Amino acid sequence: MSNGNEKTVALVTGANKGIGYEIAAGLGALGWRVGVGARDEQRREAAVEKLRAAGADAFGVPLDVTDDASVTAAAALIEESEGRLDVLVNNAAITGSAPQAPTEVDPATVLAAVQTNVIGVIRVTNALLPLLRRSPSPRIVNMSSSVGSLTLQTRPGAETGPISAAYAPSKSFLNAVTVQYAKELADTPILINAACPGYVATDLNGFRGTRTPQQGAAIAVRLADLPDDGPTGAFFDDAGPVPW
Ligand SMILES: NC(=O)c1ccc[n+]([C@@H]2O[C@H](COP(=O)([O-])OP(=O)(O)OC[C@H]3O[C@@H](n4cnc5c(N)ncnc54)[C@H](OP(=O)(O)O)[C@@H]3O)[C@@H](O)[C@H]2O)c1
Repeated sequence: MSNGNEKTVALVTGANKGIGYEIAAGLGALGWRVGVGARDEQRREAAVEKLRAAGADAFGVPLDVTDDASVTAAAALIEESEGRLDVLVNNAAITGSAPQAPTEVDPATVLAAVQTNVIGVIRVTNALLPLLRRSPSPRIVNMSSSVGSLTLQTRPGAETGPISAAYAPSKSFLNAVTVQYAKELADTPILINAACPGYVATDLNGFRGTRTPQQGAAIAVRLADLPDDGPTGAFFDDAGPVPW
């Protein structure tokens, strides 16, 4: 994707660590200007410094995806400093606390996962849509997970992760919301897709994942940089389409 002489401007939520940090690094390596969305000032500034030291044109964006005022302020900051947004990567998420077995889960755990992983994405996306609409080739990437795939969850023998009434269904919900956005935005240049990074060693899973954050970031970077005739309303991992 190219915007003539202007740099592509991206925002990655939850970019202070893990896969989000590597997505920011990957977009920075494309020569893009990258907003590092993160809720904690110290963690955000440390990530911005590290990205800059690696040559990326990074800037900090204070952002808690569960907080209306924070998201409104983030959109205002980007409007003020950049004037538009080309790419939004909704990466921030939580797993929520244990237990997550449906028969034992605290409803508050389910609500917290949905608040961050689904409502947070809607809140951030809608706040930034006016800026995305100013871009010639807007892209939105929602970091989902194959654990949100009902097809895989019900396929005998498929690797589906632990039984979960909060995290996994929040990703199914996110997938469903992604499809609805794609339908509404079908007549616009906005392409919106869901991505699964694979099983990645991060804080999210106590670093038990088998892939590196950089490997997990690759699919998001690819979907952030789709050509104008690229797909929308779809779900991908490195190997190709993931079943819903
Ligand atoms: N790791 C995997 O194996 C795996 C597999 C499938 C999908 N995913 C998805 O990949 C994405 C990144 O996960 P990860 O493994 O990199 O997890 P991670 O290391 O735990 O990072 C999560 C990021 O989200 C941020 N975050 C959480 N709640 C937030 C909020 N309310 N506002 C702003 N930021 C918030 C965290 O910030 P703080 O540092 O402030 O907490 C952190 O930067 C998530 O969407 C996850 O569901 C991961």
